[in-house]
Amino acid sequence: MPEANAQPLLQGTGLHRTYRLPRRGPFEPGPVRTAVDGVDLTVAAGARLGIVGESGSGKSTLVRLLAGLEAPSAGTVTASGRRVVAAGTATGSAAAMRWFRRETGVVFQDPYASLDPRMRVGAIVAEPLRALRIPGSHESLVADVLARVDLPPDAVDRYPHEFSGGQRQRIAIARAVVHSPRILFGDEPMSALDVVVRARVIELFRTLADDLGLTLVLVSHDIGVVQRLCDTVAVMSAGRIVEHGPVSLLDAPTHPVTRALVEAAPTLP
Ligand SMILES: Nc1ncnc2c1ncn2[C@@H]1O[C@H](COP(=O)(O)OP(=O)(O)OP(=O)(O)O)[C@@H](O)[C@H]1O
Ligand SMILES: [Mg+2]
Repeated sequence: MPEANAQPLLQGTGLHRTYRLPRRGPFEPGPVRTAVDGVDLTVAAGARLGIVGESGSGKSTLVRLLAGLEAPSAGTVTASGRRVVAAGTATGSAAAMRWFRRETGVVFQDPYASLDPRMRVGAIVAEPLRALRIPGSHESLVADVLARVDLPPDAVDRYPHEFSGGQRQRIAIARAVVHSPRILFGDEPMSALDVVVRARVIELFRTLADDLGLTLVLVSHDIGVVQRLCDTVAVMSAGRIVEHGPVSLLDAPTHPVTRALVEAAPTLP
């Protein structure tokens, strides 16, 4: 699966992202907030990377940059050596991004907000296939992926409101992997779910990563999720990665930021 020649599957170099906040007065420019402040990060094919850090440390922003959903203020993202140019930038059109969209899928936190309530599940899950112009029978690809995420075949004809939060997240996951991407990004994909459902969705991520050979990039404020699912961890603080290594570093944290996160984490049953 991974090529022997060595371009990393995903690489962020010198990533910065600033936001200009609203102006305070008519002649004053708005203050600038730095969300990501100089991140270099390499994700190897097959890695399962967890990104942790306190609220506001820049985790979601970093994932949006890496997933090409937002353009960095400075720095570059490359996938297998090819430059990712985010949509909405001068050179970033939907067509220019299609190759990267085919390589990636994204799951967000809120399964209620992320699914169009007026669309049937079959159309929701098939959407990337249409947008990415994937050849072949979309119907059978949708049926296959629904089975993979443990939803009944008749789900295709139903609407999101007919499903529980956990099932909706399965629908969102099905949509994220229906086109067989190589990288699956998740921004707190289990955080809105109760403990039992969360454990099942963690298992689902693991099974999908195993069966589909996915590389995972997963943001979670929940250290337990990362310990269960990931092999590497990046710890963020104030827009930077302060520690990056095997997930075992969470067992005996030495960096003060990591230690504070681990100490604040509730112990899982
Ligand atoms: N669109 C935006 N406009 C202005 N500021 C933003 C925007 N997005 C993020 N920020 C700011 O950037 C910083 C990092 O935000 P980000 O959402 O990436 O953090 P996070 O680590 O994901 O936090 P959380 O754990 O609460 O989700 C925060 O100070 C946030 O307020
Ligand atoms: Mg976030």
